[in-house]
Amino acid sequence: MRPSPVLSEVDGRTRVSTTRHYLMCPPAHFAVSYTINAWMNPAVPVDRELAVAQWEQLRAVYLELGHRVSLLEPVPGLADMVFAANGALVIGGIAYGARFRHPERSPEEAAHREWLTAHGGRFVAAEHVNEGEGDFAVTRDRVLAGTGFRTEPAAHLEAQEVFGLPVVSLRLVDPRFYHLDTALTVLDDGVHSGRADIAYYPGAFSAAAQRVLDRMFPDALRVAEADAAALGLNAVSDGRNVVLPEQATGLAAALAERGYHPIGVDMSELAKSGGGPKCCTQEIRA
Ligand code: ARG
Repeated sequence: MRPSPVLSEVDGRTRVSTTRHYLMCPPAHFAVSYTINAWMNPAVPVDRELAVAQWEQLRAVYLELGHRVSLLEPVPGLADMVFAANGALVIGGIAYGARFRHPERSPEEAAHREWLTAHGGRFVAAEHVNEGEGDFAVTRDRVLAGTGFRTEPAAHLEAQEVFGLPVVSLRLVDPRFYHLDTALTVLDDGVHSGRADIAYYPGAFSAAAQRVLDRMFPDALRVAEADAAALGLNAVSDGRNVVLPEQATGLAAALAERGYHPIGVDMSELAKSGGGPKCCTQEIRA
């Protein structure tokens, strides 16, 4: 990662953004036609055109911030393919492919594998169920991993074997927060600052997982339920700029106080499927 010259200093805390490479997939075939999480209700109509406009807005924000955005070709019939974060976990040029829990999403695996292998790097196919960055979050020296709804604990060990980074298993307990990336976000991965900074909603985690997070990140930003319920933690940070659902106003204020630059986006259509900015964004870590 290259440090870019954008700095912000609030309360003596300097936040440095670094340019990122993101993989996104346009919601050309987006729909809510089945129910695999607590947010999805096929009886509620979805405005696909609006979903596309909201997604375009998200992409425009990344480009304005100077990030690189690659596109995955949407496949007809794959209504959830817009949630590109779920397709893999990529660190240091190694891609650990997803293996989806639900058959409705399984065909997405091949699309991701094809793109990732065509764009260099090593691709490791998963033996165990895991939903990529939906359940894996990355800091400088470890991987935080969710389980309870989608990703199997065996995949956490598999990821540890693939990347040689310690993987910390965290149990999710609230069905609204079925993926780790709905309950926790890495604000600063610590690559430049030397110290990772995260935000999370404690209520999404088992009591033991809450104690683990407490110990590992005593200074973490603990987020209120209302902000988490607005999918505020489904955020994408470049170390300084934090793109999050605009409805999470309390979180945006707390981020600004911590020296970050919150950028609110409206992802209301994609929220009908349980997704926000992060779900739409897979980071390709060179
Ligand atoms: N409808 C999708 C599912 O339930 C939403 C996935 C959201 N992605 C995420 N990274 N949380 O699988």
